[in-house]
Amino acid sequence: MDLLKEKILKEGIAVNENILKVDSFLNHQVDTKLMIEIGKNFAAYFQSKNIDKVVTIEASGIAPAFTTANFLNVPLVIFKKQHSSILNHDLFETTVHSFTKNSDYKLTASKKFLKENENILMIDDFLANGEAVLGTSRILNAAKCNLQGVGIVIEKSFQPGRNKLENAGLDVYSLARIAKLGNGIIEFI
Ligand code: G4P
Repeated sequence: MDLLKEKILKEGIAVNENILKVDSFLNHQVDTKLMIEIGKNFAAYFQSKNIDKVVTIEASGIAPAFTTANFLNVPLVIFKKQHSSILNHDLFETTVHSFTKNSDYKLTASKKFLKENENILMIDDFLANGEAVLGTSRILNAAKCNLQGVGIVIEKSFQPGRNKLENAGLDVYSLARIAKLGNGIIEFI
């Protein structure tokens, strides 16, 4: 998506070889017009999949997932992160390991909002190691929902996420695919 790539080149900061800072338009301050274009793009790509619901994980996935759900005319369900153990029979839960943050969290979703056989689209801001998507997929399996596709705003293609998701049979569509990061370097595939 050219508009997104231009924004990344203009405002993104490669903090090191692994991390791209995009807090001026995605992770902290949000460019609402860009989010609307992102939502249109994802909705057009996944239009034929008969999506019943969009899901994302709090917090930074919410803005692009919201606009996508709006253009697909379906609800958005926000999966929650809990940092302490909880036991609640009304929730699906799974443990996710973040390699970027070197920590675990419990990913949860209310059973109320996931019904058997629903077609689900997951939207997230970054794809790094794929663990957030795999955790989401485990919850959707437990709910007997169908994960029809994964839409990613920024994919770090030099990290293992895409391969892991493709090996799990998932349809991954990324709007910007980064081949390389470094001091002052941002290169797309
Ligand atoms: P994975 O799901 O692909 O395995 O990713 P990983 O756990 O490694 O990443 C965890 C968190 O770090 C996610 O945010 C993700 O968005 C963020 N992240 C990963 N790589 C980058 C990067 O290059 N730049 C930025 N800005 N963030 C990155 P999170 O913990 O879920 O935070 P938030 O959604 O609450 O903001």
